[in-house]
Amino acid sequence: MKIISYGKQYIDEADIKAILETLQSDYMTQGPKVKEFEDKVAEYHGCKYAVAFCNGTAALHGAYYAIGLKNGDEFITSPITFAASGNGALYLGGIPKFVDIDKDTYNIDITKLKENITNKTKVITPVSLAGYPVDLKAIREIINETGKDIKIIHDAAHAIGAKREGRNIVDYADVTILSFHPVKHITTGEGGMVLTNDEEYYKKLCLFRTHGITRNPEELIENHGAWYYEMQDLGYNYRITDMQCALGMTQIDKLNNSLYKRNQIAKYYEEELKNVEWLKLPLGYFSKEWLNNKKYEELKEKPENLNSYHLFPVLLKNAEERKRFFDYMRKNNIFIQVHYIPLHTMPYYKEKYGYKKGDFPIAENYYEREVSLPMYPTLTKEELEYIVKKIKEFKK
Ligand SMILES: Cc1ncc(COP(=O)(O)O)c(C=O)c1O
Repeated sequence: MKIISYGKQYIDEADIKAILETLQSDYMTQGPKVKEFEDKVAEYHGCKYAVAFCNGTAALHGAYYAIGLKNGDEFITSPITFAASGNGALYLGGIPKFVDIDKDTYNIDITKLKENITNKTKVITPVSLAGYPVDLKAIREIINETGKDIKIIHDAAHAIGAKREGRNIVDYADVTILSFHPVKHITTGEGGMVLTNDEEYYKKLCLFRTHGITRNPEELIENHGAWYYEMQDLGYNYRITDMQCALGMTQIDKLNNSLYKRNQIAKYYEEELKNVEWLKLPLGYFSKEWLNNKKYEELKEKPENLNSYHLFPVLLKNAEERKRFFDYMRKNNIFIQVHYIPLHTMPYYKEKYGYKKGDFPIAENYYEREVSLPMYPTLTKEELEYIVKKIKEFKK
């Protein structure tokens, strides 16, 4: 039997055609496709500006730069996330502060946020882990209560298209970042994006992505002629190519279908596994009406609450059982994964910032017990039945 991975891209004929057309056009990079893709993703999320980057980590770096994070400023994030959520701020000299996770949503515990805000806190970076939309409204309210000017960078690398109480991933955030790595919902090979409604951030993001250089006549300090450009700050070459954005354009056409299929798979797992007493399933958020009553093509509106289900994280009883389960599933060609090893327990964080095991017990307990089951739109009925069968046989 072939290997079933935990996540996989979906590429069809339209994607291949789009890339080939760009290869045959005048532009491989810095052509029209980048802006077309940015506009399409911005429109999908109902926001004003989008800036595409060569990957989600670069997008995070740009986001921290745009909100003005400086050396010595503190940023607050969740210990259960990929290293990139913190790295973007560390590059700029940010000091990492963690708040433990909520035991049910696995997102940052909002009830513990306030006590961790200090005069040095510049930004909070909540992560919508696995696609479960974090409560940005509550975070915004807590910030407002403090009276401080603290920004929100929503790390929505897992949560493109997610909704919470009718609001989407850009609402209440100053900037929102996406990743288009192949295991994510839509892919450009490598790729990422920052979404914002703030014009000043938009301009800073464009500058940062291209060496800190602008050619915009309205922004130039001097102007020697039509060839003239200026490096106004230290930026990076974080550009994405036209070939990648052509792929992004055909990929985003498939996003709603991907969200729909992922929710169907989540519902299937929930129905099949709810009586497996040694397994804790993630919180739902899929609308039964959305999935049950209509054909996808007839659905114009997404439900008020929508989990993007990048991952389907389940918890076992303890670390020993998780290890046995992981090895057992791999032996059966089901390549589940673990998301994530808590950031504060990484050697870099321990040595540089003095974090240690025991600092965030709920995150550590989650890590010891977690595995992510396969979750991608092209999983077949037979593959899903096989996965569920093997899970149920684990303790027999
Ligand atoms: C939560 C989170 N943030 C940011 C990133 C960075 O994205 P990229 O891999 O595109 O750099 C990832 C990537 O896996 C991620 O999982």
